[in-house]
Amino acid sequence: MKAAILYSGNYGSTCQYAEWLGEATGLPVFDVRKDPPEPWNYDILILGSSVRVGKPTISKWVKKNWTQLNGRPLLLFSVSGTAPEDPDLLLWMKRGLGEEIFSQMEYVPLRGRMVVSELPWWSRILLKGLARAIKDPEESKRMTEGFDFMDRESLEPIVCWFEKQTRPEQARKRVRVPEMA
Ligand SMILES: Cc1cc2nc3c(=O)[nH]c(=O)nc-3n(C[C@H](O)[C@H](O)[C@H](O)COP(=O)(O)O)c2cc1C
Repeated sequence: MKAAILYSGNYGSTCQYAEWLGEATGLPVFDVRKDPPEPWNYDILILGSSVRVGKPTISKWVKKNWTQLNGRPLLLFSVSGTAPEDPDLLLWMKRGLGEEIFSQMEYVPLRGRMVVSELPWWSRILLKGLARAIKDPEESKRMTEGFDFMDRESLEPIVCWFEKQTRPEQARKRVRVPEMA
């Protein structure tokens, strides 16, 4: 089975997760904004997307290529400042991709990194506006001061999902309760 990791991000953290995943799975990694392959060349796809102002940045590419992607096993991981358990993330994914498309994917939210001094001035202005609209003071502070939640171990559910797609027999054996003697 042929599989690949395709990602979209701006400042390196989504790329970093995609590369770590590539190392863990042996899969090739592509940036959808540079020279992405045709999705029909692959049976399984892992898609990575940063979140920008409540939108998954990969949504345009996914919608454009949906006829090729539809029907294949797909996993989407998002990379953002928001905590994975925050229900806003699900809302943003459904709104950005459309409920129908999002319902066809496995979803794993990850937390990324933001170094404010590395951002262009227009992004910093955008973030100030965003921070004002955020009610949680801690999250609002993060949006103006930056954060680093990069965690290689948080990729484990994605690696497990991939193994399950490629080796369903082995994945089933791993979770089976041992039989009584
Ligand atoms: C202009 C801008 C807008 C952002 N908007 C959001 C947002 O709406 N929600 C969120 O959780 N994180 C937001 N973030 C944080 C990014 O999602 C986070 O830094 C992520 O790791 C970026 O991925 P990248 O490094 O691949 O670009 C924003 C960051 C920037 C610079």
